[in-house]
Amino acid sequence: MTFLKRPFTFGNITLPSNIFCAPLAGCSDLPFRRMTTQHQPGLIYCEMVKMDALVRHDPNTFRLLDYETHMHPIGAQICGSKPQIAGQCAKIVEDLGFDVVDLNCGCPVDKVTKDGSGSGMLKNPELIGEILANMVAAVKIPVTVKIRAGWDEKSIIAEQVTQIAEQAGAKAICIHGRTRAQGYQGFANWDHIRRCKQIAKSIVVIGNGDVFDAPSAKRMFEETLCDAVLVSRGTMGQPWIVDDIYRLLSGEEIPERDGHFYRDVLLQHLDHIASYQNERRAAMDLRRVGCWYLKKGKGTRKLREVLNKSKSVVEIRQLICDYPWQETDFSSAIAPEPDMAETC
Ligand SMILES: Cc1cc2nc3c(=O)[nH]c(=O)nc-3n(C[C@H](O)[C@H](O)[C@H](O)COP(=O)(O)O)c2cc1C
Repeated sequence: MTFLKRPFTFGNITLPSNIFCAPLAGCSDLPFRRMTTQHQPGLIYCEMVKMDALVRHDPNTFRLLDYETHMHPIGAQICGSKPQIAGQCAKIVEDLGFDVVDLNCGCPVDKVTKDGSGSGMLKNPELIGEILANMVAAVKIPVTVKIRAGWDEKSIIAEQVTQIAEQAGAKAICIHGRTRAQGYQGFANWDHIRRCKQIAKSIVVIGNGDVFDAPSAKRMFEETLCDAVLVSRGTMGQPWIVDDIYRLLSGEEIPERDGHFYRDVLLQHLDHIASYQNERRAAMDLRRVGCWYLKKGKGTRKLREVLNKSKSVVEIRQLICDYPWQETDFSSAIAPEPDMAETC
């Protein structure tokens, strides 16, 4: 069975493939997307933006939606629980040139869920339908929705939301197999994705959760029969993961990557950050981004320690260039455990 679809038709648009890159608040910024789009994902999403901030034209929110022409096809994700502004927000996104607009129904953070937004929406599935219908009515681009399986184990509603989203006219639903109560702990339960795929009539089902390398993407396709896979934390520190998935699903070999390869990619990511952020912010981002790449290799601890104390881009660049990369070992660079993926 061929799981990889290149190209992949989706609503009224054709995407390069059915391997997508997720919205990651605080991470999938413009420099990050410059790195991942080199590997031609089927679709890449910007980090979520709040509906309220969009309608009041908050400049910081618009900056989160910065993108460059080569990043198409690109999606924006809106987060909020007010049906009366959802259509207007979707239209703003469409007018900015985005190819897809997504509704966030998965963010677990208290300050987001307290007004019923993000995964708070899972407590009110009818409202998800109302908001999606308003978005669909307002735009021509495909509308998608990203959910968790449910608020907690006792209230799994992924299948119900799949039907609601389909009726509301959404073109795709992405199911993250964890509940809100799980946060990012434990494992994503892919059974929920499989069940949604079984009941979906026309809506595209996108699987999400614990895809940290090419074999796990293949397993997700095999075990859930989902139409597309959305890679999330697996893109952090390995922007080439989409290329690995393409290769594995096409029967091609995945290349070995040594310390020098990691150094070069890290320096490239550094350049993108330095050209986009101010000096202070760039140094902060680099410490975090550097850690994503380095934690996969043996013999990188000293560099991580000094990076964490460094204060300028010039200093960080020098530290990376001077490091004895020949003494590092990335041959068994393993995917992070789910619980570990956000920490160094
Ligand atoms: C740092 C971070 C930021 C995230 N930001 C978003 C976001 O803006 N929108 C969203 O729908 N999901 C967001 N997520 C959730 C991921 O897209 C994804 O659903 C989740 O990490 C599960 O997939 P994974 O196990 O493959 O990482 C975020 C996750 C992390 C770790």
